[in-house]
Amino acid sequence: MLFPLGGPVPESDIVGREDFIISLETRLTEGQSVMLAGPRRIGKTSIANEVSRRLQKKGFYAASVDFFRTSSKRNIAESIVNSCLENRTGIRKTLNAVWDRAKLLAGAAKIAVKVEDLELNIGFPKKEIDDEALLEYALNLPDVLAEKDHKRMVIVFDEFQDAGQIGGIDIYKVMRSHFQHQKNVAYLFLGSKEGMMQSLFAGKKHAFYRFATVLPIPQIPEEAWIGYITRKFNEKGIEASSDYVPKEIVRLAGGHPQDTMLISTEAYYTLLETGEKRLSGKIVRIAYERAIVSLTPVFDEILGEVGKKPFVREVLRRLAVGEVIYKDKNNPNDIKRAIDQLIMSAVIEKEGRGKYKFVEPMLNDYIQRNY
Ligand SMILES: Nc1ncnc2c1ncn2[C@@H]1O[C@H](COP(=O)(O)OP(=O)(O)O)[C@@H](O)[C@H]1O
Ligand SMILES: [Mg+2]
Repeated sequence: MLFPLGGPVPESDIVGREDFIISLETRLTEGQSVMLAGPRRIGKTSIANEVSRRLQKKGFYAASVDFFRTSSKRNIAESIVNSCLENRTGIRKTLNAVWDRAKLLAGAAKIAVKVEDLELNIGFPKKEIDDEALLEYALNLPDVLAEKDHKRMVIVFDEFQDAGQIGGIDIYKVMRSHFQHQKNVAYLFLGSKEGMMQSLFAGKKHAFYRFATVLPIPQIPEEAWIGYITRKFNEKGIEASSDYVPKEIVRLAGGHPQDTMLISTEAYYTLLETGEKRLSGKIVRIAYERAIVSLTPVFDEILGEVGKKPFVREVLRRLAVGEVIYKDKNNPNDIKRAIDQLIMSAVIEKEGRGKYKFVEPMLNDYIQRNY
């Protein structure tokens, strides 16, 4: 794909994040843990992957666990252990390879040798180990492994707010009690539910209070986007030389990273279909319409989510079309609650007192057109 979409992007396609990546790298190198919260599809995972890559190049161990995909204590524990041990063994599922070594023949024996010293020192979990014990083991492992190998380690916990869904224990409290004393490990926490992340890290009563530095994710500068879009089209022999047209893409996407990529992609396909070699304003308008169409299911899902209470959807509609949101016949508390819910679900952001904007400006346009 000319403009990568839908997941973390490779280094050469990360636009406008160089300064931020360097600053994260510096902090993590110093052993400081960091928390980044921001809506989905603005580039958190891309940033984290790149930071990990760079730290690995510097000799760090790096591990990463996505809590969106982990649903139980067992699951979390296995993911942490596997991701940590991959630094040693070079394979993704060391636990399973060692546990099933009879089945896996020659390869597994080699892997077992690589973790043999762990078996002797801190033990190597047996397959029959119970979930709690495996979790304890997993939470201790990063520091122990780093210490043993004279390494420092960085661990990315992605969609960290989802860890709270594990029932039975206060997993955050358990985690914090382990991480607190680790000298060789820095954590990078990411989350797309800002409200939950903020309260977890900034609420006095919450487990991760003051454990990590909370950094805002900066806007990607417009010039960076323009430079990138122009370069990409030029690479394909397409003229996009006047700033005006790439700038129009950025403006239409409202600075939303994935939407900017999406409109660019649609423009590229439109050019391929028509055989034109110049990115014109007309092409960008067609691309925008196509992008809106392809976002329809996404937007409908978001609206279905937040619109379970019809009143919330009505408040969102008022915001989208620019009507006053407080109306006489409504109870102000209901409106406030609706606004809070929309902020919690990262559909809107507070801009100033009583001022809100859509996280994804194309959604604003979609609502204007359809409701
Ligand atoms: N800095 C960036 N440069 C270019 N594209 C980006 C950038 N950040 C995000 N994107 C776009 O957003 C998509 C999602 O990025 P990702 O890192 O998975 O976001 P998140 O983890 O915040 O959901 C990418 O596939 C890409 O299209
Ligand atoms: Mg992500």
